[in-house]
Amino acid sequence: MKKVTVKCPATVANLVCGFDILGMALKEPFDIMTLKLIDEPRILITNKDDYNLPTEPEKNVAGVVLLSIMEKMNKGIGFEVEIEKHIKPGSGLGSSAASAAGAAVAANFLLDSVFSNDELVQFAMNGEKLASGVKHADNITPCILGGVTLIRSIHPLDIVKLNAPDLFVTVVHPQIEVKTSDARQILRKEVLLKNAIKQWGNIAGLVAGFEKGDTDLIGRSLEDVIIEPVRSILIPGFDVIKSKSKEAGALGGGISGSGPSIFMLSKEAHTASLVETIMKETFSQLGIEYKTYITTIQKSGVELIS
Ligand code: HSE
Repeated sequence: MKKVTVKCPATVANLVCGFDILGMALKEPFDIMTLKLIDEPRILITNKDDYNLPTEPEKNVAGVVLLSIMEKMNKGIGFEVEIEKHIKPGSGLGSSAASAAGAAVAANFLLDSVFSNDELVQFAMNGEKLASGVKHADNITPCILGGVTLIRSIHPLDIVKLNAPDLFVTVVHPQIEVKTSDARQILRKEVLLKNAIKQWGNIAGLVAGFEKGDTDLIGRSLEDVIIEPVRSILIPGFDVIKSKSKEAGALGGGISGSGPSIFMLSKEAHTASLVETIMKETFSQLGIEYKTYITTIQKSGVELIS
């Protein structure tokens, strides 16, 4: 029986100004998934963590991705799946994307790489649709391709892998719940032209900064005048962490995906660690439990480990 184990990285969607179109993969945290190919058309899911996620395939993020792959293959195959999540659901670190992308990539390994990366992103987006109600690829794509990615369009799918600089990423996950669906619902449907101009200047600057390896340009472009002013209200301590981190030398950062996690980019390990202290102090003072990571950009996506 064919069997593979994969490591599925956490991801930071949006990268501040690029709502739904930019994302990057992190070295830590990551999930582990093991898939077995079976010759019966069924899916059996086992959770090897304490998150108590549904195991019925049609209610499980990995399950719906595998169902769409089985439908496409149209032959009597199925999968046994073991999921060991370390990326907490609802953290804003691409937990659902890790399950969705992990399932798609692992299944493709088992099926002798019959599908292209674009097809894997399409399959995996079914998982995002189940988790948040909307098909978005800004976590899925960096999770599958690694590094920093741009989703120029979903219909038709047009993805671009960008250069990823060697930066440190400090992340704090305050243990409060922000549902992606809620964090999307509160957004205004219209934007002012003057804000749109600022935003697309920042997106273009950020993409150019990544491509040129210009870290100062990256820092200047990490500004969001459309989404962050609305969503940051849901995250206590956000403004303090952002301003103090920049004072301490961080390039910049913001909400990771739809939150509540916050990320900051730094050039030096020393700065990344000062930022971690600021994050810890802020949430301790607020009496909110938290978890922090100091990590880097993961250059490859979902990886085969055995
Ligand atoms: N781009 C999405 C959002 C990511 O910000 O709603 C959610 O994981």
